[in-house]
Amino acid sequence: MGLYHLIYQSQAVVPFADAELAALLLWSRAYNRQIHVTGLLLHAPDGRFLQILEGEDADVRQLYYQNILSDPRHYQCQVLGEGSCAERSFADWSMGCRVAQADDLHKLLHSGALNAPTRHGPRPTIRPELMELLLEFVEAKAAQ
Ligand SMILES: Cc1cc2nc3c(=O)[nH]c(=O)nc-3n(C[C@H](O)[C@H](O)[C@H](O)COP(=O)(O)O)c2cc1C
Repeated sequence: MGLYHLIYQSQAVVPFADAELAALLLWSRAYNRQIHVTGLLLHAPDGRFLQILEGEDADVRQLYYQNILSDPRHYQCQVLGEGSCAERSFADWSMGCRVAQADDLHKLLHSGALNAPTRHGPRPTIRPELMELLLEFVEAKAAQ
Protein backbone atom coordinates (compact mmCIF):
# COMPACT_ATOMS: atom_id res chain seq x y z
CA MET A 1 0.00 0.00 0.00
CA GLY A 2 1.35 3.40 -0.91
CA LEU A 3 0.63 6.69 -2.54
CA TYR A 4 0.01 6.38 -6.27
CA HIS A 5 -0.89 8.72 -9.08
CA LEU A 6 -2.33 8.22 -12.52
CA ILE A 7 -2.63 10.81 -15.27
CA TYR A 8 -4.67 10.19 -18.39
CA GLN A 9 -6.08 12.08 -21.31
CA SER A 10 -9.33 11.33 -23.13
CA GLN A 11 -11.84 12.83 -25.51
CA ALA A 12 -15.49 13.49 -24.63
CA VAL A 13 -17.94 11.94 -27.07
CA VAL A 14 -19.67 15.33 -26.95
CA PRO A 15 -17.97 18.21 -25.08
CA PHE A 16 -19.59 18.61 -21.66
CA ALA A 17 -21.86 21.58 -21.06
CA ASP A 18 -21.34 23.47 -17.80
CA ALA A 19 -24.24 21.74 -16.04
CA GLU A 20 -23.06 18.31 -17.10
CA LEU A 21 -19.53 19.03 -15.93
CA ALA A 22 -20.85 20.40 -12.63
CA ALA A 23 -22.84 17.19 -12.10
CA LEU A 24 -19.80 15.07 -12.88
CA LEU A 25 -17.70 17.06 -10.43
CA LEU A 26 -20.33 16.82 -7.73
CA TRP A 27 -20.42 13.06 -8.09
CA SER A 28 -16.66 12.70 -8.36
CA ARG A 29 -15.90 14.90 -5.38
CA ALA A 30 -18.32 13.02 -3.14
CA TYR A 31 -16.95 9.63 -4.15
CA ASN A 32 -13.30 10.67 -4.20
CA ARG A 33 -13.62 12.14 -0.74
CA GLN A 34 -14.83 8.76 0.55
CA ILE A 35 -11.82 6.95 -0.85
CA HIS A 36 -9.35 9.80 -0.18
CA VAL A 37 -8.56 10.35 -3.83
CA THR A 38 -7.50 13.88 -4.78
CA GLY A 39 -6.63 15.42 -8.11
CA LEU A 40 -7.48 17.70 -10.95
CA LEU A 41 -9.79 17.43 -13.95
CA LEU A 42 -9.28 19.71 -16.94
CA HIS A 43 -11.82 19.93 -19.73
CA ALA A 44 -10.86 21.86 -22.84
CA PRO A 45 -13.52 23.51 -25.03
CA ASP A 46 -12.79 20.95 -27.79
CA GLY A 47 -13.83 18.14 -25.45
CA ARG A 48 -10.45 16.84 -24.33
CA PHE A 49 -10.08 15.78 -20.72
CA LEU A 50 -6.93 15.47 -18.67
CA GLN A 51 -7.26 14.07 -15.20
CA ILE A 52 -4.78 13.51 -12.42
CA LEU A 53 -5.82 11.03 -9.73
CA GLU A 54 -3.80 10.51 -6.58
CA GLY A 55 -4.42 8.31 -3.57
CA GLU A 56 -3.83 4.78 -2.32
CA ASP A 57 -2.50 2.51 -5.04
CA ALA A 58 -5.52 0.15 -5.16
CA ASP A 59 -8.10 2.95 -4.92
CA VAL A 60 -6.63 4.96 -7.78
CA ARG A 61 -6.27 1.95 -10.05
CA GLN A 62 -9.73 0.67 -9.29
CA LEU A 63 -11.31 4.07 -9.90
CA TYR A 64 -9.60 4.50 -13.23
CA TYR A 65 -9.52 0.97 -14.65
CA GLN A 66 -12.92 -0.14 -13.38
CA ASN A 67 -15.01 3.02 -13.51
CA ILE A 68 -13.61 5.91 -15.47
CA LEU A 69 -12.06 3.93 -18.32
CA SER A 70 -15.38 2.28 -19.23
CA ASP A 71 -17.44 5.46 -18.93
CA PRO A 72 -19.27 5.80 -22.27
CA ARG A 73 -19.10 9.60 -22.15
CA HIS A 74 -15.49 9.63 -23.27
CA TYR A 75 -13.13 7.58 -25.44
CA GLN A 76 -9.48 7.44 -26.60
CA CYS A 77 -8.41 7.16 -22.97
CA GLN A 78 -4.65 7.21 -22.84
CA VAL A 79 -2.61 6.88 -19.66
CA LEU A 80 0.19 9.47 -19.75
CA GLY A 81 1.83 8.34 -16.57
CA GLU A 82 1.19 6.24 -13.47
CA GLY A 83 3.21 5.00 -10.57
CA SER A 84 4.00 5.56 -6.95
CA CYS A 85 4.65 9.10 -5.80
CA ALA A 86 6.15 10.59 -2.70
CA GLU A 87 3.44 13.15 -2.00
CA ARG A 88 0.17 14.52 -3.30
CA SER A 89 0.17 17.64 -5.49
CA PHE A 90 -3.55 18.27 -4.86
CA ALA A 91 -3.87 17.17 -1.25
CA ASP A 92 -6.74 19.56 -0.55
CA TRP A 93 -8.65 19.06 -3.77
CA SER A 94 -11.14 16.21 -3.98
CA MET A 95 -11.21 17.13 -7.68
CA GLY A 96 -10.09 20.47 -9.11
CA CYS A 97 -12.07 22.37 -11.65
CA ARG A 98 -12.53 22.97 -15.34
CA VAL A 99 -9.87 25.13 -16.90
CA ALA A 100 -10.43 25.94 -20.50
CA GLN A 101 -7.66 28.38 -21.35
CA ALA A 102 -3.94 28.51 -20.76
CA ASP A 103 -4.32 31.86 -19.00
CA ASP A 104 -6.79 30.40 -16.51
CA LEU A 105 -4.43 27.56 -15.74
CA HIS A 106 -1.59 29.97 -15.08
CA LYS A 107 -3.83 31.96 -12.74
CA LEU A 108 -5.06 28.84 -10.99
CA LEU A 109 -1.72 27.15 -10.49
CA HIS A 110 0.97 29.76 -10.52
CA SER A 111 2.66 29.49 -7.19
CA GLY A 112 4.17 32.96 -7.49
CA ALA A 113 0.76 34.43 -6.66
CA LEU A 114 1.50 34.86 -2.95
CA ASN A 115 0.11 31.41 -2.26
CA ALA A 116 -3.35 32.90 -2.01
CA PRO A 117 -5.85 30.10 -1.53
CA THR A 118 -8.09 29.37 -4.51
CA ARG A 119 -11.78 28.68 -4.06
CA HIS A 120 -10.84 24.99 -4.00
CA GLY A 121 -8.57 25.45 -1.02
CA PRO A 122 -4.85 26.01 -0.70
CA ARG A 123 -2.89 26.20 -3.91
CA PRO A 124 -1.41 22.88 -5.03
CA THR A 125 2.33 22.27 -5.19
CA ILE A 126 3.02 21.00 -8.65
CA ARG A 127 6.23 19.39 -9.83
CA PRO A 128 7.69 21.06 -12.93
CA GLU A 129 7.21 17.95 -15.15
CA LEU A 130 3.55 17.82 -14.24
CA MET A 131 3.14 21.53 -14.82
CA GLU A 132 4.63 21.12 -18.29
CA LEU A 133 2.13 18.39 -19.05
CA LEU A 134 -0.76 20.58 -17.91
CA LEU A 135 0.43 23.47 -20.01
CA GLU A 136 0.89 21.25 -23.05
CA PHE A 137 -2.68 20.12 -22.58
CA VAL A 138 -4.26 23.56 -22.46
CA GLU A 139 -2.15 24.80 -25.34
CA ALA A 140 -2.83 21.78 -27.58
CA LYS A 141 -5.74 21.13 -29.90
CA ALA A 142 -7.78 17.96 -30.28
CA ALA A 143 -6.44 15.53 -32.90
CA GLN A 144 -8.43 15.85 -36.14
C1 LIG B 1 -13.61 12.48 -17.61
C2 LIG B 1 -14.26 11.76 -16.47
C3 LIG B 1 -13.69 11.85 -15.21
C4 LIG B 1 -14.27 11.18 -14.12
N1 LIG B 1 -13.70 11.29 -12.89
C5 LIG B 1 -14.26 10.66 -11.84
C6 LIG B 1 -13.68 10.75 -10.54
O1 LIG B 1 -12.67 11.41 -10.31
N2 LIG B 1 -14.32 10.10 -9.54
C7 LIG B 1 -15.47 9.36 -9.72
O2 LIG B 1 -15.98 8.80 -8.77
N3 LIG B 1 -16.02 9.28 -10.94
C8 LIG B 1 -15.45 9.91 -12.00
N4 LIG B 1 -16.03 9.81 -13.23
C9 LIG B 1 -17.31 9.07 -13.34
C10 LIG B 1 -17.09 7.57 -13.51
O3 LIG B 1 -16.61 7.31 -14.81
C11 LIG B 1 -18.41 6.82 -13.32
O4 LIG B 1 -19.43 7.44 -14.02
C12 LIG B 1 -18.78 6.80 -11.86
O5 LIG B 1 -17.73 6.21 -11.15
C13 LIG B 1 -20.08 6.03 -11.62
O6 LIG B 1 -19.92 4.75 -12.09
P1 LIG B 1 -21.11 3.69 -12.00
O7 LIG B 1 -22.29 4.36 -12.64
O8 LIG B 1 -20.59 2.51 -12.79
O9 LIG B 1 -21.31 3.42 -10.57
C14 LIG B 1 -15.45 10.44 -14.33
C15 LIG B 1 -16.01 10.36 -15.60
C16 LIG B 1 -15.43 11.01 -16.68
C17 LIG B 1 -16.06 10.94 -18.03
